[in-house]
Amino acid sequence: MTRRMTLPENFSQRYKTMPRLFRAPGRVNLIGEHTDYNDGFVFPAAIDFYTQVAAAARPDRKLVVYSENYREEVEINLQNSALKARKHWSDYVCGVALMLLADGHEIAGANLLIESNVPLGAGLSSSAALEVAVASALLGISGASMAPLRLAQLCQRAENDFVGARCGIMDQFISVHAKPDTALLLDCRSLEYQVFPIASGYALVACNTMVKHDLASGAYNQRRAECEEGVRLLAEFLPNVHALRNVTAEELERYRKKLPDTVLKRCRHVVTENERVIQSAICLRNHDTAGFGRLMAESHRSLRDDYEVSCAELDLMVEIARRAEGVVGSRMTGGGFGGCTINLVRSEYVPQFRDMVSAEYHKQTGRLPEIYISRPAGGAEEIPTSGVALEA
Ligand code: GLA
Repeated sequence: MTRRMTLPENFSQRYKTMPRLFRAPGRVNLIGEHTDYNDGFVFPAAIDFYTQVAAAARPDRKLVVYSENYREEVEINLQNSALKARKHWSDYVCGVALMLLADGHEIAGANLLIESNVPLGAGLSSSAALEVAVASALLGISGASMAPLRLAQLCQRAENDFVGARCGIMDQFISVHAKPDTALLLDCRSLEYQVFPIASGYALVACNTMVKHDLASGAYNQRRAECEEGVRLLAEFLPNVHALRNVTAEELERYRKKLPDTVLKRCRHVVTENERVIQSAICLRNHDTAGFGRLMAESHRSLRDDYEVSCAELDLMVEIARRAEGVVGSRMTGGGFGGCTINLVRSEYVPQFRDMVSAEYHKQTGRLPEIYISRPAGGAEEIPTSGVALEA
């Protein structure tokens, strides 16, 4: 039986040099959706699915990038001042490289080989994993380094300003800062975080609906704009409010008549979701799994009814999961409009959970869902490659 080549081996065959190897994980978010860009709270954990980048410097100012997932090579000339996003996987690589340069890092030209097992476009943060892995690789082979928070912010900037998605900081932050066996409660305003152990008897199970509705990126930016509109209108009465983070449920109720219906619903989701994140942290501390599960369910309802970023397939996946044994909680995770649900499941029930959800979802939709099982993983890192090429 022939062994599959490792990424470094593959690299040395393609580029005739040995690379260094870097990786960054995807993530799930336990609770706190669409709160990050409202200066609120999120509760993500990294998953054991990674984007890996093998990299070595080149003598010129080019990035030659091959993606194993897309089976495609792209050449980026770092001296070209007119580089623009073109709705292509390489936009993330290009955006990160340009942000590093703009930030004053003399990054080297490089050969890169990229491979990811983070499901692409499934709401598990494949973009942030790619950005963070590429940034770590380019810095690493250029002999440069950057504080973790700055690295996350730089990658977010690449996505905001180059790719054109107005995402918050959650995905890049967790991909950089994650610690094994924990979830991070992150305050997206102060960027301070607390580490919460996830007991060893639980698994993070992401169920992929296998649908991605086209409106996702446009609707995401639109939701952000609706939140900003809410802040603008509320600030007329509450001058200290600069983000929905500062609005309480009582204040929102008091001024509800001042807001258009849609804006009110968006604000209500964000305000109540922030409260749910704080409550869920208390539940986790007190080992109150039932309470945690109820908050996940409320979060899903709020995303479905008030924020309107769920879809029939996500709702169905959550419904099915709730009937399964050993499930603490289930809700959509990530931006929405398709992609995955996150399920916190007692480890011993995972096999039967997987079989039941697969069969039932398939029966009702004709689609076979992919199901990803993970413990909370660690953040971005360099993987030593010494000896890799010699492995039997
Ligand atoms: C996407 C964005 C994040 C966050 C979530 C929704 O994953 O990249 O910044 O806004 O959606 O919670």
